Amino acid sequence: MNNAVKEAKLNLSRKGFLDIDIDPSMDLVAEIKKLKKQKNAIILAHYYQESEIQDLADYIGDSLGLSQKAAATDAEMIVFAGVHFMAETAKMLSPHKKVVLPDLKAGCSLADSCPAPLFKKFKEKYPNHVVVSYINCTAELKTLTDICCTSSNAVAVIESIPKDKGIIFAPDKNLGAYLIKKTGRDMILWNGACMVHEIFSHEKIVKLMERHPGAKFIAHPECESHILELAEFVGSTSQMLKFTKESAAREFIVATESGILHQMELASPDKVFIPAPPNNTCACNDCPHMKRNTLEKLYLAMKYELPEILLEERVIREGRACIDRMLEISEKAGFKA
Ligand code: 13P
Ligand code: SF4
Repeated sequence: MNNAVKEAKLNLSRKGFLDIDIDPSMDLVAEIKKLKKQKNAIILAHYYQESEIQDLADYIGDSLGLSQKAAATDAEMIVFAGVHFMAETAKMLSPHKKVVLPDLKAGCSLADSCPAPLFKKFKEKYPNHVVVSYINCTAELKTLTDICCTSSNAVAVIESIPKDKGIIFAPDKNLGAYLIKKTGRDMILWNGACMVHEIFSHEKIVKLMERHPGAKFIAHPECESHILELAEFVGSTSQMLKFTKESAAREFIVATESGILHQMELASPDKVFIPAPPNNTCACNDCPHMKRNTLEKLYLAMKYELPEILLEERVIREGRACIDRMLEISEKAGFKA
């Protein structure tokens, strides 16, 4: 395909129009599997993806597992069924591979809540502090970061920093507050939050717990502290999944994006999983960014190898060190994908 056609396709995909040329009778699942082989591609999917995408993926995981896989794969093309910062992280870890994201508009409210130029000014006020950033941030923010972390390894990352060092934590104030409680470290927090985890309803969850007295309430640390205080278990998506597999309980109320319920139900078909309700009229909580990816867009991304994630060399060079540091700490602490 010549560059002009590629560019036109890229523009269409950016506007969300790339699905114009899909034959409705096509068996998308079979075609995607064919493309995967033909192109030596690997599909990495986050737990918040639609179940049909999860079922097609070579690896499904949380942010840490996905980074570990992206760093280790020998595939030529990484197809990232997730959001933009995840695909950027994969590109930083595998800069010579092609990384495609089915929908370039699949962003993240948490990453958007911390623009790098503003953070740069903020950081200047604390010149001797170590900057720890949650991986849910832009590649540019990673260039201003000393160590990255995910919700799986955040405690280990904070504990790896000498006690006499001050810490700035960005961008999630809820995860930051949870880490202050867990580690006893005093940290300066950036005032960011995730639009999905911030809207769980305390009142509705309490009522749900009263109606299901045997159910265990489990929550993601991106939730606000008054929600986390109700939880019997707090952890990343993969840690929540593990908890539901190992627990003797039969019922769970789950406070995170509803996509995770698919793997929970597959792993424990005899258990009941109830999504925790948000403070709007919906019964469960979906991330509009994660859910931008569809099977059609996945197919087109693989066929045209677009939209591709491209990063400046400087960003890769300066942004990667904080991810490598995180992976080293995770390996030492025994976190495996
Ligand atoms: P984890 O899957 O790493 O827990 O992250 C949750 C999340 O919000 C990803 O966007
Ligand atoms: Fe970002 Fe929240 Fe969506 Fe995760 S769930 S991608 S943190 S907006």
